Amino acid sequence: MPPTKTSFHLLRLDELSAAEIGELLSEAQRTRGQRSEEARGRVLGLLFTKPSTRTRVSFEVAMAQLGGQSVFLSSETTQLSRGESLAHTARVLGRYLDAVAMRTHRQEDVELVAAESRIPVVNALTERFHPMQVLADLLTVSSRRGQLHGLTYAYVGDGNNMANTWILAQGVLGLDLRLATPPGFGPDPTVLAAPAVRRHPPTLLADPKEAVRGADVVITDTWVSMGMEAEAADRIRLFAPYQVNAALMALADPDAVFLHCLPAHVGEEVTAEVIEGPQSAVWDEAENRLHVQKAWLRALWGGAS
Ligand code: CP
Ligand code: NVA
Repeated sequence: MPPTKTSFHLLRLDELSAAEIGELLSEAQRTRGQRSEEARGRVLGLLFTKPSTRTRVSFEVAMAQLGGQSVFLSSETTQLSRGESLAHTARVLGRYLDAVAMRTHRQEDVELVAAESRIPVVNALTERFHPMQVLADLLTVSSRRGQLHGLTYAYVGDGNNMANTWILAQGVLGLDLRLATPPGFGPDPTVLAAPAVRRHPPTLLADPKEAVRGADVVITDTWVSMGMEAEAADRIRLFAPYQVNAALMALADPDAVFLHCLPAHVGEEVTAEVIEGPQSAVWDEAENRLHVQKAWLRALWGGAS
């Protein structure tokens, strides 16, 4: 049976309904650690123009655990590096591969590959979104706290791809999310205008203490995302009041969970005490990438129950 339209591509999280997210998370939980055969004979291409540890390895392992294979395609070692267009590359890849996981700068490029390749494309991070990561984050929260609703979520730091994706998640699922970002570094206005987010907007703040007070989940990310290296010194100075440290965590609920998609710049956006401390769920969060991606790939190829 062909996949449904909503599950064909995953370019941004608001392409999924709350029910689809719920189903994906329960499948991820149910099948964690299982080996199966849904991807037998299938090949996933990993088309990456940015570095990766977790995303690359978790997708490759997911395909292996589902009986399929993956092929890693960095921009440097393909003809993209010599000027072959992305459209031509996508058309050719669509003739060989069964799906593509793509990591790149522009969201528009992921959309272009989805349109030109005519095979399912999953966003493996763009400057605007990181959907698989936030699905893994949601799985981590539901595993640790037994629920997603009835909790308060605080995102502190840069209004980047992680913040944008969390905003879409809270809009679709109806979660209670407060974001504290420095003035001028807020989330993407087009994300705030997305229908699900207009129906259920987040609370936008500048004060990290106000965001974290009483929160059940505290989330941060690097202040210097891939591609922003030239701004690093200014950002590190400007974002200093947004560091997640023990004093900030002390304002959260005593059972609060700390999330960071990694890689972390310890001593910048988070202190060693917090990321290595008992409230940190970052290693489970990284592991959960594998479980949610396997669930997505199984759903794509007809394996969902
Ligand atoms: N969190 C995440 O996407 O990590 P990588 O950049 O290592 O893939
Ligand atoms: N915001 C970070 C996430 C890394 C997984 C970046 O885009 O570099």
